[in-house]
Amino acid sequence: MNQTLKDRVEELRKKIHYHNYRYYVLDEPEISDAEYDRLFSELEELEAKHPQLITLDSPTQRVGAKPLKQFGAYEHGIPMLSLNSVTEESDVREFDARVRKALEWEIEYVVEPKIDGLAIELVYENGVFSAGSTRGDGRTGEDITQNLRTIKTIPLRILSDDPPLPLLEVRGEVFMSVGKFKALNAELGKRAMKMFANPRNAAAGSVRQLDPRVTASRPLDFFTYGLGRVEGKDFSTHWEILDYLRDIGFKVSPLVRRFKGIDDVIKYHEEVQERRDELDYEIDGIVVKVNSIEQQDRLGTISRSPRWAVAYKFPAREEFTRVKDIMVQVGRTGALTPVALLEPVQIGGVTVSRATLHNEDELLRKDVRIGDTVVVERAGDVIPEVVSVIKSKRTGAEKEFKMPDRCPVCGAEVLKEGPIVRCIGVSCSAQLKERIVHFASLRAMDIEGLGEKVIEQLVSKQMVSDAADLFFLTKSDLLKLDRMGEQSARNILNAIEKSKQTNFSRLILALGIRHVGTYTASLLADEFSDLDALSRASYEDLVRIPGIGPEVAKSVLLFFAQDSTRELIEKLERAGVWYEKKKKVSEGGQVLADKTFVFSGRISMPREQAKSMVERLGGKVTSSVSKKTDYVIAGEEAGSKLVNAKKLGVRVIGEEEFMEMVKE
Ligand code: IVH
Repeated sequence: MNQTLKDRVEELRKKIHYHNYRYYVLDEPEISDAEYDRLFSELEELEAKHPQLITLDSPTQRVGAKPLKQFGAYEHGIPMLSLNSVTEESDVREFDARVRKALEWEIEYVVEPKIDGLAIELVYENGVFSAGSTRGDGRTGEDITQNLRTIKTIPLRILSDDPPLPLLEVRGEVFMSVGKFKALNAELGKRAMKMFANPRNAAAGSVRQLDPRVTASRPLDFFTYGLGRVEGKDFSTHWEILDYLRDIGFKVSPLVRRFKGIDDVIKYHEEVQERRDELDYEIDGIVVKVNSIEQQDRLGTISRSPRWAVAYKFPAREEFTRVKDIMVQVGRTGALTPVALLEPVQIGGVTVSRATLHNEDELLRKDVRIGDTVVVERAGDVIPEVVSVIKSKRTGAEKEFKMPDRCPVCGAEVLKEGPIVRCIGVSCSAQLKERIVHFASLRAMDIEGLGEKVIEQLVSKQMVSDAADLFFLTKSDLLKLDRMGEQSARNILNAIEKSKQTNFSRLILALGIRHVGTYTASLLADEFSDLDALSRASYEDLVRIPGIGPEVAKSVLLFFAQDSTRELIEKLERAGVWYEKKKKVSEGGQVLADKTFVFSGRISMPREQAKSMVERLGGKVTSSVSKKTDYVIAGEEAGSKLVNAKKLGVRVIGEEEFMEMVKE
């Protein structure tokens, strides 16, 4: 065999492993994608010409194994333990007291997030990945080597210049990010395939596929949190183990911390719980581990759980309850949303008595019936949602629900557009109310104090027939409303008056044109000098604007073709609504004025596009994280920038939350 050829192949592999690590684990690529592709193709070509040179740890071999008939059993060298879990502060204090009693000194703890995924073990022999398995019953799991090989954040080869250890068993959690999970489900839904109930099930289902090509197509990720057997190296603390694993190419959660004493651990639990929704992966608590290995050994294990660690869980976000009834809500654009009325239930400290069922297709897919026992989830500020039905609890007395074929509020006909049923009534009071709520909202005209209750009354007492009528209300009108005092009436009138001075972008948003959210409104405001010009825009004028597609264009045209729109605009002018009429890039809604953003990892749109979105709304994008950064947008495989953000206490948001900020 030609020695130089063999050397070149090895050199290429080394480089590719290294650049994989820079890209996937650190999120700090050193070379361009094109350069990477060149290296990869060269290796592929050489391997194709000289198949005898192919080794299992070659980066070309992540996918390629044949489907299995069934998984083999895999016996763990050291049992994979489970954790005792607690939810109350007093229980963690008790854990700490037990530890201190056994050891009689102040304890240093390492805290890690408890990742909601699937525990696995990876075996490296002489630095090369040789086997991977599920936890199974702790002693014996399933051999899923071929599947784990496809996960990009699992190194095929240990990254180190030192001679490799003869044996290293790495343990951790395979998971799927929330964003990827949603995208996967959407895709499965489109192809009428079975969807997953949550990211954990999606990760477990994807990793336990007999065909590794299916696993390879699933966006899985891996965080490590410990070791099994090790030959050739000793560690004195858990912290050292994590450092080592990080150094040799594994992802360790950026949320790991080290504390002396239980008080700081409890504080950190609270902090992580508050930031739970900012993460793009699900965690259900923290894991508290005694740092010193010697102390761990002294504490030992009792019935499959170590005495030196505990899972300190967050309050559940899912609860069981019963569907008392199903009703239909009518939104601003007439969309009919089925809503489940529930037996009130406490979820994470909040009483939940209704949950959205999204639309008719979702309702049918989940087969939710009146009387059903269901799982309800409430995540952060998101509207509670019915996740699934416990069908085994059915008695036969449950009633199926059918979407009405007329609007439940105005009685007009409804039209089905894809999964959405829409009321086509032009004077539907539910739509009117929602339109005015939107008009007055913070991001639109920002009329302080004009809440939903007041608007509801204004509509039902027929004191307003469109949003512009707000500007003609008098104090005596307002005083006719329930629970309205002199002072509140005066405040509302002042706020209405103040809102007359606005900017173009806010005004466009306030009009409530379908598909026109904050970002699109700012695009339109940049392009047109005033409402008159916008109302005369042609389809071509609109689609020429980068960022505006046919659907938005059609919707804008349709809006301005309505008589009611013309009337509304005239009234607004008569009322003296005023906005600056000039073209200026980034005049926008300026919702992001003076805000600095940093992107980390991959997001689903080109970065340039995301950047221009931020800039149009008055914000700035920089490449590195500093104290001055306001938000870090964590995409997939976000790496070191995320670590920095956490260190500096910079707010980290996911792509979805970012889209919320810039779009509707
Ligand atoms: S340590 C020695 N650390 O929780 C204890 N487990 O019941 C072994 N998990 O099966 C586990 N994040 O799936 C540990 N940072 C973390 C974890 C973690 C999630 C899961 C793991 C395990 C279960 C323990």
